[in-house]
Amino acid sequence: MADRVRVISINGSPRGDRGATAAILNPFLDGMEEAGAEVEQRIWVNRIEMQPCTGCLKCYCNDGECTLKDSVSNERLIQRMAGSDILVIASPVFSHGFTGPLKTLIDRFFVTGQPEVKRRSNGQTYRRRRDWVKHGGKAVLVSSCAAWEVGMFDLILTSMRQFCFDQERELSAALLRPHSQLLSGIRGKPSVIGNLRALVRMVGVDIGSFFKRGHTLSATQSLIGLKKSIGEVKGAAREAGRQLVRDGKISPETLEAVSQPLLPFEAYASLAEMAIGDLQKKARKRGQGLEKRSGERVKNRKI
Ligand SMILES: Cc1cc2nc3c(=O)[nH]c(=O)nc-3n(C[C@H](O)[C@H](O)[C@H](O)COP(=O)(O)O)c2cc1C
Repeated sequence: MADRVRVISINGSPRGDRGATAAILNPFLDGMEEAGAEVEQRIWVNRIEMQPCTGCLKCYCNDGECTLKDSVSNERLIQRMAGSDILVIASPVFSHGFTGPLKTLIDRFFVTGQPEVKRRSNGQTYRRRRDWVKHGGKAVLVSSCAAWEVGMFDLILTSMRQFCFDQERELSAALLRPHSQLLSGIRGKPSVIGNLRALVRMVGVDIGSFFKRGHTLSATQSLIGLKKSIGEVKGAAREAGRQLVRDGKISPETLEAVSQPLLPFEAYASLAEMAIGDLQKKARKRGQGLEKRSGERVKNRKI
């Protein structure tokens, strides 16, 4: 029997399983398992005790061993990820790129390069990978962002392409989920839009007042149809996992279904504004005095 495809995933969202990124990542990994892959590890970046690369370059002198002593080196995380058949990198878009902790982890892949400088035929400088790196493995990017449009993923996609180029992995696909907060709820509750009542609770308004904001009947209808559309998005993510393991690739139609628009822009913007307004109202009610407290903290801290 052929060896099972070995998969490792890393989720760079600070919200972990409560977040929108996980709402795509988890069904995708489940789909891979259904198709017979072995998902060895689902890593959450917040659980890793990790220091940033200091740039000491000592890994050049000792076959890629890092001098930092933390769980990345103790648990040989880079070696394990670099040896996987499929590496799934998941991150929300933070300031157009990976989240900070994920970028810190990606920097630690520096140890995978040989101490040499080469040039490819296209003129790009590169370092060959060490023998323990799996050559020709696959990689997938899973990402979510708050912006309505998929263009918001341009920079994170470029970073991922470059990471794959460096690691000599094929970037098989990118599962991109824009206007993602509809999947996780603005307060981070999982699958908060279970039904219309949950939606009303989430945004703190009723459909009537949404309608009164001047939205068309079709926008209101797509709001009501959200539960079904979100189900389709998650189903497409699961199907993407099955396809990747079974066929070695994901169809463009499946990727489009993951990224499909869930609401017209105006309706999404309204919903987001209402939800943020609701958050602010609740914070004021609780008398958190956020501005005052954070100001004091900044004043008292030595940098
Ligand atoms: C610090 C920070 C920076 C962000 N930067 C962007 C951004 O540049 N573009 C964007 O569309 N969304 C941005 N977002 C929104 C997140 O990408 C979005 O809410 C994402 O789905 C969160 O995923 P998660 O729930 O898995 O953490 C940002 C959010 C935070 C907290």
